[in-house]
Amino acid sequence: MKTVLHVNASPRPATSQGYRLAGELLAALRPSWPGLAILERDLAAMPLLPLSADYAEALTRRTPPQAPAFTLSEALIGELEASDLLLINTPLHNFTLPAALKLWLDYVLRIGRTFASTAAGKHGLLADRPVYLLVGSGGHHRGPHARQPDFLTAYLRHALGTLGLFDLHFIYLEGLVGTPADVADTLAAAREQLSRELPFRPLANPLTTTLE
Ligand SMILES: Cc1cc2nc3c(=O)[nH]c(=O)nc-3n(C[C@H](O)[C@H](O)[C@H](O)COP(=O)(O)O)c2cc1C
Repeated sequence: MKTVLHVNASPRPATSQGYRLAGELLAALRPSWPGLAILERDLAAMPLLPLSADYAEALTRRTPPQAPAFTLSEALIGELEASDLLLINTPLHNFTLPAALKLWLDYVLRIGRTFASTAAGKHGLLADRPVYLLVGSGGHHRGPHARQPDFLTAYLRHALGTLGLFDLHFIYLEGLVGTPADVADTLAAAREQLSRELPFRPLANPLTTTLE
């Protein structure tokens, strides 16, 4: 049985295009992965507590994982370890990732637990697995319409790579404050890109059936 960890980093999942698309992807996975278990980590519905002094002390003093200060961190890392695939939907907030997602990373990136620090640098201790990132933005940050920098992609590549996660697939939903037609085009392009990705092949079925 396969397990997917879905992390929602949108503060408004009820109207988020990225959140809705994540739901479509989870539904598309079911035929390929019967009995699929989905772990929902909704950072809007259940915001994580800000880092405590105890956590910061425990982390920097290399305290054993059983310490009470690590209870939440261990739970979040456990969800990550249990997953065969990680699906994150996140907005771009002020050119980078939203604070809620950064906080999640601050709980799962733990020295001596999920990454090791060696003379050669930091390296991940988690097994690699596919990670799909749906990144929503009001404007554009790529191509001829780009009007702003994107500090999210490089940061997430580095932070997730530090955990040992390198099989990253970024799907950009740009221009979401545009006209309904623009938004529909963006979503159609994202679905098309995703339908070419192996685990989401069922997403392509209606399209390929009509084309063939
Ligand atoms: C606090 C905040 C900051 C934002 N910063 C940016 C930004 O830097 N660039 C951009 O294109 N859109 C920005 N937006 C717009 C969101 O990225 C856009 O509305 C996106 O669709 C939100 O995704 P969601 O609906 O999944 O939450 C910002 C929105 C908020 C609320």
